[in-house]
Amino acid sequence: MQAIVLVGGEGTRLRPLTYSVPKPMVPLLGRPFMEHVLLRLRDAGINEVVLPACYLPEAIQRHFGDGEKLGLRLHYVIEEEPLGTAGALKNVERFITGPFFVFNGDVLTSLDLGAMLEQHRNSGGIGTLHLIPVEDPTAFGCVEREADGRITRFVEKPKPHEVTTNYINAGTYLLEREVLDRIPAGRNVSIERETFPQLIAGARALYAYATEDYWIDIGKPENYLKANLDTLRGTMPLRTPGPSQEAAVKQPCFVGINARVDRQAEVGPGVVLGRGCRVAAHARIYESVLWDGVVVEEGASIEGAIIAGDVRVGANARVERGAVVGHGQRIAAGTVVPPNARVPMPA
Ligand code: GTP
Repeated sequence: MQAIVLVGGEGTRLRPLTYSVPKPMVPLLGRPFMEHVLLRLRDAGINEVVLPACYLPEAIQRHFGDGEKLGLRLHYVIEEEPLGTAGALKNVERFITGPFFVFNGDVLTSLDLGAMLEQHRNSGGIGTLHLIPVEDPTAFGCVEREADGRITRFVEKPKPHEVTTNYINAGTYLLEREVLDRIPAGRNVSIERETFPQLIAGARALYAYATEDYWIDIGKPENYLKANLDTLRGTMPLRTPGPSQEAAVKQPCFVGINARVDRQAEVGPGVVLGRGCRVAAHARIYESVLWDGVVVEEGASIEGAIIAGDVRVGANARVERGAVVGHGQRIAAGTVVPPNARVPMPA
């Protein structure tokens, strides 16, 4: 079985984190997010993955190479200009030999791919889309369907009075190869806005596969933080190293290799410390994600925040809930990074 994982987006909503790191390489519990995705595909029997990349592709290639270490065959296809979510599929057509999965590279889900494949085979449709229910669908692409699962309409970001379903497109598709014939070549094409609405007008139906799995799109800072906390707490089942036994942390926490926490620091619950982080005495860290090499000096506090690699948080500084601090920043001693701040401010 083959899969295409879309990894070309600029990840603008995750800035400043994505200034230095493309979204697929953003870490989840000590591993690039995409590594978790690829391991999941491998465990489901997928052995060949095509990666249409565009933004900072070298970082992805350098880490994963030809995929041999993960037991996968990986092919990279670099777009000079972003081709959009369907244009990117058309551009890798030459690798695809039969029905194939497509994954948005920023979705974390417990979806059972084998069960989805079985339903797709039984339906005989041109494609199957994973749907999940959400409380407020107004920020998503909503998908209307018949009782037999046949998709009848797509409604992008409906106004509250336009909502007819709370089932949304969850970013995992299983498509027949002939779908690629319907995508125009050489230009930017959106699968959500152009290709899927065209497909439902055709002879072969497009089906929904609706489940109530764990599902989150890590493309926004608050979701990325939540994905880390949910994985730490076990709400999202994921094969990860067990919780750390580091004496000075309150579980659940993930403490990366060579990270050091002073016995008089207060770390956790709900904290991810990357490799080589240093946390000094009387520092407090709670419900936060720190990437590799972050230094937290004496008496500093970090709560509900995301701190990229090699940041130094000065003595008695305070980083408040929802803040995101970009790579290599220096937070001066005693300063306060206010709630939801971005450091530096995105250009
Ligand atoms: P934002 O800028 O924050 O919206 O993020 P994004 O650019 O990643 O866009 P979005 O989250 O809508 O993208 C969904 C998925 O499609 C992600 O996995 C992206 O990497 C991928 N993607 C989006 N646009 C392109 C594109 O033009 N080419 C390729 N190859 N992938 C894309």
